[in-house]
Amino acid sequence: MRCSPKLIQCTTCQRTILSAMSPSSLTALLLLAVPCFSLDNGLVRTPPMGWMSWERYRCNTDCKRDPENCISEHLLKSMADRMAEDGWKELGYQYVSIDDCWSLKTRDSQGRLQPDPERFPSGMKALADYVHSRGLKLGIYSDIGNYTCGGYPGTTLDKISIDANTFAEWGVDMLKFDGCYSNSSVKAIGYPKMSSALNATGRPILYSCSWPAYEGGLPPEVNYTLLGEICNMWRNYGDIQDSWDSVLDIIEWYGKNQDILQPAAGPGRWNDPDMLITGDFGLSYEQSKSQMAIWAILAAPLFMSNDLRTISGGARDILQNRLLLSINQDSLGRQGRLLFQKKPLEVWKRELVNRQYAVAFLNKGTDGTPRRYSTCLSMLDVITCTTGYKVYDAFAKEFVGQFGMNTTMDVTINPTGVVLLFIVPTC
Ligand SMILES: *[C@@H]1O[C@H](CO)[C@@H](O)[C@H](O)[C@H]1NC(C)=O
Ligand SMILES: *[C@@H]1O[C@H](CO)[C@@H](O)[C@H](O)[C@H]1NC(C)=O
Ligand SMILES: *[C@@H]1O[C@H](CO)[C@@H](O)[C@H](O)[C@H]1NC(C)=O
Ligand SMILES: *[C@@H]1O[C@H](CO)[C@@H](O)[C@H](O)[C@H]1NC(C)=O
Ligand SMILES: *[C@@H]1O[C@H](CO)[C@@H](O)[C@H](O)[C@H]1NC(C)=O
Repeated sequence: MRCSPKLIQCTTCQRTILSAMSPSSLTALLLLAVPCFSLDNGLVRTPPMGWMSWERYRCNTDCKRDPENCISEHLLKSMADRMAEDGWKELGYQYVSIDDCWSLKTRDSQGRLQPDPERFPSGMKALADYVHSRGLKLGIYSDIGNYTCGGYPGTTLDKISIDANTFAEWGVDMLKFDGCYSNSSVKAIGYPKMSSALNATGRPILYSCSWPAYEGGLPPEVNYTLLGEICNMWRNYGDIQDSWDSVLDIIEWYGKNQDILQPAAGPGRWNDPDMLITGDFGLSYEQSKSQMAIWAILAAPLFMSNDLRTISGGARDILQNRLLLSINQDSLGRQGRLLFQKKPLEVWKRELVNRQYAVAFLNKGTDGTPRRYSTCLSMLDVITCTTGYKVYDAFAKEFVGQFGMNTTMDVTINPTGVVLLFIVPTC
């Protein structure tokens, strides 16, 4: 079987297509996609997965009145237990990460950060040991500024080395390094300096940088080549909140700026559109699928921020969808793109290994009825295999059929929902 590399125009379904989004820039990008260097700590060749406290638990330190939900070793151990016992770990959810508000308001006599002894009575080393004993990894948080965002001691430039060493001694596996109470010049020194300090500890520590989010996320303020060399992942944009509006806002920003963001990502270096909020209060079932599908297309880190002790079966199904996770974890490590849009529909596509593809049809509409959309593979620029493709629906968990590149394909997408297809060449 021969696979033609030529781009073939599909005439049969041309009438129904969405308007193409700058196909010339897409082609240029693929040709120009030069290999970039990534932080050389051997970590996260595919996007990291795990759980993080911030979006759901915030800076809740009130263990007297809210012992189950305050930032404490109890919360972290409970989540580690759930991750180890409820099938999360086997699927790749590996990091259990503490966000802000874990420390005391003062450093110890040797200038080291110290966990609040009431909320972390066993200490961080013991917590790391516990998490490791469950086959998981521990993440921690600090901030290149005078204070963390929650007002706890920051990692000022003079404290970078001591804090990196403290985290390594505790056995921490990941650092989220925030940017409150700091300025651009301090950040420009501090983020690379922390990268070197983590490396100097000799312990491989996933390094997550909030730096670009504080500089508007775009050049010239942000240098993505540099970020790829010093960080494993980075927040580009504002914090996610527990609402569909927030998810839509993030999706829109990543689509709008994809020419800059897409080439920045690759094995070892990932754009981070922020935590998964499936299982919380703000998203419907359809919207939860939509966040998950677009995060898979974006090759995004998958950090849930939810309550794994009480999560519903529906939310768990979405977060544990194997086909979707395999798309997110594809070893080519190429971030996907918004291919077409015609309100309220968007078509997103990600190139996978072995000339496979993932395509997400997102219906941003809220007008009650599901939308039917007719397309064909050649309209999605899936054209290299002339003998056709096998198409699978990730959420329906079914084989849709085998399609030639010009065969009409009908997709029905629920309001604020998504259809995620996995497309495999028969060549
Ligand atoms: C698809 O349609 C295009 C344009 O009509 C045509 O050139 C091409 O041969 C068709 N490909 C297949 C595999 O049918
Ligand atoms: C530190 O950096 C060197 C050179 O880039 C690399 O070979 C080494 O694996 C790194 N070590 C850690 C612990 O990140
Ligand atoms: C941090 O503290 C220094 C020294 O007290 C001060 O000069 C600087 O303005 C502070 N920076 C921010 C952003 O608050
Ligand atoms: C940034 O903060 C540092 C340290 O707090 C301070 O010395 C410096 O003057 C600040 N720079 C600007 C441009 O505000
Ligand atoms: C961005 O960073 C890279 C790597 O450190 C450097 O070579 C390049 O000159 C920087 N680009 C700009 C525009 O500063």
